[in-house]
Amino acid sequence: MNMEVSFLADHQWWKNAVIYQVYPRSFKDTNGDGIGDIPGVIEKLDYIRKLGATAIWLNPIFESPHVDNGYDVRNYEKIDPGFGTMEDAENLIKEAKKHGLKIILDLVLNHTSDQHPWFRAARKSKDSPYRDFYIWRDPKDGREPTDWASFFGGSTWAFDEQTGQYYFHLFSDKMPDLNWENPKVREEMVKIARFWLEKGVDGFRLDAVIHMAKDSRFLPVRNEDAEDETDFVLAEKYYANLPRVHDFIHEFNRAVKKDFPDAFLIGETASADTNLAVLYSSPAREECDAVITFNYLGFDTEAKDKRIPENWQQGKWNLAAFKKVMAKWQKDLYGKGYSALYWNNHDMPRLLSRFGDEQMYREKSAKMLATLMYLQWGLPILLQGEEIGMTNLKLPHLEDYEDPSIPGLAAAARKAGCTDAEILQMVQKRSKDTSRGAMQWTDEKYGGFSTYAPWLGINDDTREVNAAIQEKDPDSILQYYRKLLEIKKSMDVFKSGTWEMLAEHDPNIYAYLRTYNRQRALVVCNVSKERQTFTCPELTRTKWSCLLNNAGNSKEIPGRIVLSPYECYVLLQKNEAINGRN
Ligand code: NOJ
Repeated sequence: MNMEVSFLADHQWWKNAVIYQVYPRSFKDTNGDGIGDIPGVIEKLDYIRKLGATAIWLNPIFESPHVDNGYDVRNYEKIDPGFGTMEDAENLIKEAKKHGLKIILDLVLNHTSDQHPWFRAARKSKDSPYRDFYIWRDPKDGREPTDWASFFGGSTWAFDEQTGQYYFHLFSDKMPDLNWENPKVREEMVKIARFWLEKGVDGFRLDAVIHMAKDSRFLPVRNEDAEDETDFVLAEKYYANLPRVHDFIHEFNRAVKKDFPDAFLIGETASADTNLAVLYSSPAREECDAVITFNYLGFDTEAKDKRIPENWQQGKWNLAAFKKVMAKWQKDLYGKGYSALYWNNHDMPRLLSRFGDEQMYREKSAKMLATLMYLQWGLPILLQGEEIGMTNLKLPHLEDYEDPSIPGLAAAARKAGCTDAEILQMVQKRSKDTSRGAMQWTDEKYGGFSTYAPWLGINDDTREVNAAIQEKDPDSILQYYRKLLEIKKSMDVFKSGTWEMLAEHDPNIYAYLRTYNRQRALVVCNVSKERQTFTCPELTRTKWSCLLNNAGNSKEIPGRIVLSPYECYVLLQKNEAINGRN
């Protein structure tokens, strides 16, 4: 093995992992209340293992008032009764281990619920010993201390009548931000992490981790001449990726890994660019082991109407922009850091509805997109249901959705003259609720998810799209995912090989070459509804064999490939095919 790549395939378990994201509320309900639960996850461990995942990331399961589906934690050391008991959680950890699956919990470090005992104590008086667990400021000129906008709309400041001060919240006003400058906060968070590691979990997704440090000068973003005084503006430069956040993460990492060196820390690093991502995830810096970026998922909205926020307006996917950013991530992090490969999560629409074709080419486009993404360099994270080609949850009425940002959108859209039907369409395409529909296990009522109506809803295609049918069909999306993940895990070239983009300027093809020592693999994807041809010098110079194809083709590969709509090939350079396997 040459020196350059030696550390890529090292002993750390996450370098060869495939993570399956379970959104527990919507995964499997065993007690018939319409809400998924931990015993439901235990019931499906065989399924997850058989898919080829090696770890589960569970969205928050801690006790919570559920203002933000568990990201508002009331007690980090208790299980939310809706999900089960502590005994259930312990069972899950034990059973997962038996199945060879690691458990990664979602740890919310940046904020708590306003119902958390720390905040309840903090807001009682300015002298509370917990006051400094949060960020408080006096009003400025009788109003909010800064003009910063929160991610959930409105100001980052909420006024507390009792003590006459504002507290800081980056998300909902029911989710006050913790004050990480306070060493006691940092200690408490380490204690919580240790509590769970002692129970046997294998790591944490660190929610909103880049936001833990704030610029404590609390300066305004806009100058004084700004026109609309009531408007708040996003002020990432004051609350995202500040130098201080690296100190906090490093300290947390050291404290956690002292006794648990194999604990995996993956940071949600939303807006961080590749330079920052390297800082967050370079092994030498001891911060995160990997990062989840938002940088390459986008380029599919269009500000057709300026009065409506762009993120609600679905546009055509700009493949060229995606290629450019993805290439940058592949190159800049290779050998330096580590990043997730994913198409969707619980905060965004599903991949098939967004980048694929829900109708005629549902299966083919789902298989192609998975191939495109997961054979690149990095850590695959799949969202429950994508492996069977689930699409966006389409509910019949606006009121059926829970996403709290919908009323704001609806108001802006109505003002712009949109009808309710048009607004509903926007929601069905862009709301984060679209990925939170109940998992489609069978063709039974409620898709085998529950015996009771699922809390948010379930798509009405569950008769045709479900895991049970796909289990029996050798050509299903599910079976394809199994093969794909096996290839990803078993071949060094896909685990550790270098990555080089081919057909860079082709508007319809996404292709790349991976090389590891003498092993070479070529992935060619037609991202369009039309037939495309692909060739490159590598293809004509050497012989290739077909390892995987999503259209039933496996014959000899000519120097020029014709790809049907959404077709993809995974090719291995001949003679190396046998040696290349682990
Ligand atoms: C990121 C989570 O993925 C999202 O669902 C949540 O609302 C915010 N962080 C706040 O915790």
